[in-house]
Amino acid sequence: EYIRLLHGLVTLETELVEKLNLKQVIIIPGDSEADSAVRRELGRAAAGVLNQHLGDNMTVAVSGGSTMAKVAEAISFSMPSTTVVPARGGLGEIVEYQANTIAAVIAGKLGGRYRLLHIPDGVSEETLEAILAGDAHLRTVADAIRHANILVHGIGEAVEMAERRGVPAETIAEIERRGAVGEALGQYCALPGKVVYVTSSIGLRLDDLAEIGTVIAVAGGSAKAKAILAVAGTGRQDVLVTDEAAAKAIQLLI
Ligand code: BG6
Repeated sequence: EYIRLLHGLVTLETELVEKLNLKQVIIIPGDSEADSAVRRELGRAAAGVLNQHLGDNMTVAVSGGSTMAKVAEAISFSMPSTTVVPARGGLGEIVEYQANTIAAVIAGKLGGRYRLLHIPDGVSEETLEAILAGDAHLRTVADAIRHANILVHGIGEAVEMAERRGVPAETIAEIERRGAVGEALGQYCALPGKVVYVTSSIGLRLDDLAEIGTVIAVAGGSAKAKAILAVAGTGRQDVLVTDEAAAKAIQLLI
């Protein structure tokens, strides 16, 4: 029975590679939303993908989120020449889920170093420009982020992420009105793959991932199906690590 299940998942992986225009899809059996053991496996699988792609002297950019926290937890190899940076800063997450925190934990696991983005949440684009202009260190970090060899990021449901980050109700209503279903890196996306609302911050945006070597997304649970589709549809994504529940829900939508 288990062999049959795995066989079915391999077929589904191939289908999603083609339809979502990705290089690789990895599907973990089960539902990470309902089962913490599956959440752990999702983290482990993504950590494995990172291990495969990681070479000497690379820069790895990471997002925040509870899924990425599991990826960090699962890393059990070292690569001391790695520099880990947050993909984007100041998105209003609790400290455990902030990209800075995840970057520091992953750097610690790898025995490498980290460079963090210390910028306040919720400041305007103009203020960010002014901060950047006056801070050479911050500019070096921003530059390292833009040239990362690998990006590993989570994907969230649009409204849930906006609420979790304390976005004002009027803005949430606007994000919904624009049809956003998914979110990654502080950018809210509508189907079939359009960024419709951007949180102002420093770091990577979905539409400037062309320079990044390998983009790895990690997200599971059937509730994230539309979110995953919308984010994958924005363009540059290479590897998707997901679970059976999300993959089957995506299959029903494509
Ligand atoms: C955020 C990331 O921290 O976590 C997002 O910036 C991502 O890219 C989100 O969408 C996902 O969170 P979780 O907890 O569902 O893994």
